[in-house]
Amino acid sequence: MEQITDKLCRYKNYNFITGFTTAEYIDSLQSFEVRDSDIFLVTYPKSGTIWAQQIIISICELGGGLNEYPNNSEQMPWLEYLMDQDYALRPSPRLFASHLTPALMPPGLKDKKAKIVYVMRNPKDNIVSFYHFSRAAANLETPKSFEHHYEEYLRGNVTGSSWFDHIRDWHSVKDQYNILFLTYEDMVLDLKTAVTKICTFLGKNLSEAAIEQVVEKSTFKNMKKDPKANYEFIPQELLKGNFMRKGNIGDWKNHLTAAQSERVDQLLEEKLGDLSLKFIWE
Ligand code: A3P
Repeated sequence: MEQITDKLCRYKNYNFITGFTTAEYIDSLQSFEVRDSDIFLVTYPKSGTIWAQQIIISICELGGGLNEYPNNSEQMPWLEYLMDQDYALRPSPRLFASHLTPALMPPGLKDKKAKIVYVMRNPKDNIVSFYHFSRAAANLETPKSFEHHYEEYLRGNVTGSSWFDHIRDWHSVKDQYNILFLTYEDMVLDLKTAVTKICTFLGKNLSEAAIEQVVEKSTFKNMKKDPKANYEFIPQELLKGNFMRKGNIGDWKNHLTAAQSERVDQLLEEKLGDLSLKFIWE
């Protein structure tokens, strides 16, 4: 791994948090054995990962047959972080979260058997959420200022690398995978419809009442109180703030200047204009 800063290192064109993984482990994912029943949640950081994680776990729990783990992070571990466990020994269905790009993911996923849920968030709110999280998380570089963070983010000098590349990389290979694309904003505006979509995609036949139960467990208010899901199990010395901060659309308006917002619009047009993506900004 090439060390970029104290807290950021680079391998295979992708930025990782220092100390969370190794080059050997990332290489080993190339021979990771994917099972038909595996479910992967893929996001760029700060796009609503732990929210979609709670939804998927709740659906699978109510669908039956899920092994119990102490919290959502252990129930659905991050594939790229080196853990002291052998996933080959985990009972099915296995759930994984990941911020990786397609090139780094297990090639076995291309058989279209395992399922991938991909959640995207509008980049302006993503910048803001990333900024606040970077200030709170001991393992991330503390931003010198919002402006500095904004510049580093646009250059892809953050963990997860470039948001633009992540979105493009996954959209450009989507036909090779069994993948459902959703947005954070879809989830904010109509949680029930998003839950129902995920449920159908995962092939889980939940009753109307069970779907309502998943929705209830996943609202910002209820999730924030749920010790398995709110990530307050992360020790204070590692995270001074909260994973669950504001949970809304449009906080970028309180942070980005008009010029900063316009530059994101321009970059979106330049870099992703051909993908015809729809963004919800408020
Ligand atoms: P904000 O910082 O804008 O509040 P990730 O899980 O990828 O790190 O994303 C974290 C973001 O998702 C945070 O955004 C967090 O508040 C938001 N989030 C988490 N759970 C949520 C929920 N139940 N409803 C709405 N937003 C949620």
